[in-house]
Amino acid sequence: MTEPRDERDLQGSGSNTRKVFIKTYGCQMNVYDSQRMGDALSKDGYEPTASMEDADLVLLNTCHIREKAAEKIYSELGRIRLLKAERAQRGKDLRVGIAGCVAQAEGAEIIERAPVVDLVIGPQTYHRLPDALARVARGERVVDTDYAVEDKFEHLPETEARQIRARGVTAFLTVQEGCDKFCTFCVVPYTRGSEVSRPMAQIVAEARQLAAAGVREITLLGQNVNAWSGETPGGVTVGLGGLLRTLAGIEGIARLRYTTSHPRDMDDDLIAAHAELRALMPYLHLPVQSGSDRILKAMNRRHKAADYLRLLDRIRHARPDIALSGDFIVGFPGETEADFMDTMRLIEAVSYASAYSFKYSPRPGTPGAEMDGHVDEAVKTERLERLQGLLRHQQGAFADSLVGRSIEVLVEKPGRHPGQIVGRSPFLQPVVLPASAGAVGDIVEARIASANPNSLMAEGAPPALAEAMPLRAIA
Ligand code: SAH
Ligand code: SF4
Ligand code: F3S
Repeated sequence: MTEPRDERDLQGSGSNTRKVFIKTYGCQMNVYDSQRMGDALSKDGYEPTASMEDADLVLLNTCHIREKAAEKIYSELGRIRLLKAERAQRGKDLRVGIAGCVAQAEGAEIIERAPVVDLVIGPQTYHRLPDALARVARGERVVDTDYAVEDKFEHLPETEARQIRARGVTAFLTVQEGCDKFCTFCVVPYTRGSEVSRPMAQIVAEARQLAAAGVREITLLGQNVNAWSGETPGGVTVGLGGLLRTLAGIEGIARLRYTTSHPRDMDDDLIAAHAELRALMPYLHLPVQSGSDRILKAMNRRHKAADYLRLLDRIRHARPDIALSGDFIVGFPGETEADFMDTMRLIEAVSYASAYSFKYSPRPGTPGAEMDGHVDEAVKTERLERLQGLLRHQQGAFADSLVGRSIEVLVEKPGRHPGQIVGRSPFLQPVVLPASAGAVGDIVEARIASANPNSLMAEGAPPALAEAMPLRAIA
């Protein structure tokens, strides 16, 4: 690797420490990728900073899932252009990089549209970030979005224990990437490539390292996480259920979760793991998108509404207390009021503990964008409001059902107010506890005194505003 000495000189600071500001958009995998980019840059002498004004390098780790998500990047770049101009007046430089799914989808177009950008790097090539920065320092503008032949995980430095500790007692771990499902609305198969599973030994080693640094809860990530498959050291092929059984045996790991799953990949063994493993939390995010068979077919989901409901019956049979979550799209091309009502009925039948819902957004290059029967924006807005009203009601009812019950809470951090600590329920809700209940990393028993749709208050907790700890945010 080329040592980017000339870049340091350009800073003119005399100091060897440069600062990187990483802003993350999109799904949890982008959160994980940002951390791993931070690891790669740390080896290259970069310290993280929480302020863009302090940074020598600004990296935007982008999402392309909906038009709005991609547009946000260009408006952020407008602001960064001003910052870079102001820096230049003081004879200093600011490097700007675009990573993530917009980088993969738009590549060199980004540099054409936004000349402030020095570097575009894809989700499969970010282990080459230090090399790319060295090239930028030599005056090149770099676009590196090939699907790398090498495995980035083999080339990334291990995360240092101090960094794991700084990130807290819960951690993400990518086990699978890419998608071969080609739902007709979705860009992910084009931005993340085809389905690849990380080898079991690599995952187990990373999980052990996380546990050794104090992590208590691991969420396994994949665009199609339940399509993961691998081999045990004895050469036996196993699916996600087998991987979860192995990880549940690691000392220190008390809680396991995984996201996101496709209904077609929920096999018997994975369902059985929900019955067997105490560490596997009773919460499952299983997107269905629509309750109309006609729309499901047009979306290429390759299952019917009834298949999904039967699958949920089997999962609930294995784990009766499981809380369910999902994703919904309203206003897919051709969606009629009757189709939409099928979705509302499916939601009534399932009763979700939480859910995410979106207006359909046509994405260039996907089959959905070319379909007839695009739905009026006003109709989409009106349907989304009705659907979210129902989901909000269900989320509130689920939270209320926990009042008066004792649940286990993993303590994650001090609360916003003195005397409070905050943790998570098995169902992923934030729980506010009295600080005397335990320390960060403890799993404590808490009796729920009150609830609102976004958080729970344990008995004895000083009253406070609801803690906002979003489960995930797709910008
Ligand atoms: N495999 C992942 C995909 C992540 S995309 C998953 O199933 O969660 C997350 C969600 O964004 C999808 O489930 C879908 O509900 C929504 N989404 C994807 N493409 C969209 C589009 N073009 N318009 C609106 N919502 C979309
Ligand atoms: Fe997109 Fe469908 Fe793949 Fe999920 S399963 S990433 S929605 S194509
Ligand atoms: Fe995630 Fe958005 Fe890419 S949801 S996979 S960052 S398009």
